[in-house]
Amino acid sequence: MELKLAPDFVIDSEQKPWNTEGLRVCIFGGGGSGKSWTAALLAEQFLNQGGSVVIFEPRAEYQTLKEKFDIVVLGGPYAKDMDFIPSSPSAYAKAVSEDGLSLVFYTTDVESEEKLVDFTSRFMRHLLQHQEVNKRPVMVILEEAQDLIPKSPSGHAVPSWIYMRMIKAFKDGFLQGRKLNVIMVAVSPRPQEVNFTARQLSNMTFYGKFSPQDITYIEKECLKWHRGLTFSAKDLLGLEAGQFLTVYGTEARIIRVTEPRLTSHGAVTPQLKFTVPKREQTERAVNSLAEAIKAVLEAEKREASELERAKARIRELEAKLAEAQKEVERLKTALAVKETIKVEVKPAELRLPAELKLMEAKPLEPQVRLPNVVESLDQDARQVWALLKQKPGRFKIELMAAFGWGRRRLNRALRTLQNRRLLKVQGRKLYAIEPII
Ligand SMILES: Nc1ncnc2c1ncn2[C@@H]1O[C@H](COP(=O)(O)OP(=O)(O)OP(=O)(O)O)[C@@H](O)[C@H]1O
Ligand SMILES: [Mg+2]
Repeated sequence: MELKLAPDFVIDSEQKPWNTEGLRVCIFGGGGSGKSWTAALLAEQFLNQGGSVVIFEPRAEYQTLKEKFDIVVLGGPYAKDMDFIPSSPSAYAKAVSEDGLSLVFYTTDVESEEKLVDFTSRFMRHLLQHQEVNKRPVMVILEEAQDLIPKSPSGHAVPSWIYMRMIKAFKDGFLQGRKLNVIMVAVSPRPQEVNFTARQLSNMTFYGKFSPQDITYIEKECLKWHRGLTFSAKDLLGLEAGQFLTVYGTEARIIRVTEPRLTSHGAVTPQLKFTVPKREQTERAVNSLAEAIKAVLEAEKREASELERAKARIRELEAKLAEAQKEVERLKTALAVKETIKVEVKPAELRLPAELKLMEAKPLEPQVRLPNVVESLDQDARQVWALLKQKPGRFKIELMAAFGWGRRRLNRALRTLQNRRLLKVQGRKLYAIEPII
């Protein structure tokens, strides 16, 4: 395949070094320096020789390729064939690699950066996978490449692991492109923000006109990495639109892209005057792509509603849990207060368990026949023994509440019982012991 930019500048994929190295292109330059023009020229020539192109563009420009080529425009304000739904990257990748479709993705239609980055990285991975089998000539053009293969995954709204996946997918495209018959073309006005590895892997780099304020970092962050380069960034200042410093292998020279365009330049005249009719094969492929995407969308919708239901249930359970936790806290506090209370509490002030209130009301002694040893004790000790006999395992606080006694009075009674070995204390619970005789 031949890519001709000027009579004296032809990239022939059958010739050295491209036949062994493959082709990986970076086109850098300030606004209006001719980057998109050059990338579109490459796309036209590639399409003209039977290749498929995939273009990611944030501004509608490449739809004008439709004037001559059978391409599918996804999203955007002009000549749209389908919406760009970033849902089924594998279906799009298959359409390119198996059915030979050429796709222009209008990335601005994707509302979230995260969705776009995720889609693009998965698309690239699937494309390379399909290409392993199909090996169809495919050119992938990334406009504003600094957003798609950024220098670093940090500092973006998107989680860095998604960026890492994308950088890996593009790097694979750059690294394995030759074997898979894929040519990567990264276009950017901000080369210093494009992933360094991708830049290093490019074996054909174009530097167009930059403005004086860009020169320092272009020198420092880009040109200095090309070994033995005799040009300096200042040489870029005087370039015109369509003129580039091209660096490939150990060679570097300034060229002017003079090869005529086959379609009008979308950046100038985005509206189409004429569109080639779609081939039947393309129609079929587009329909099946639309079907595949529709199916994925429906599945996603179903999943989303199931997810919503599950989320609602989780919210409900969380609310119940919060209630239960509050109750536990309330009980814990009540218990703590109960156990640490030091003051004498009158029965009326205590919220007593129902059974204790009952005991309080009834005379206790007649219900229990007291052994002689107990009978010989004072009345308080007798009462306590009888109560514990009836209701073993009581806390002091409960007895105090039941009798309406203070702590001292109860302690005295308990001491009496303990001296006669008529009382057992386990933990803090009190039990009556039967006398031995
Ligand atoms: N090789 C060329 N031959 C003739 N005209 C050209 C050429 N390259 C660029 N131009 C002219 O320069 C203008 C700007 O080119 P282009 O749209 O490619 O710029 P760009 O570098 O992509 O700018 P931006 O960063 O703003 O997208 C074009 O509209 C066209 O008129
Ligand atoms: Mg442009």
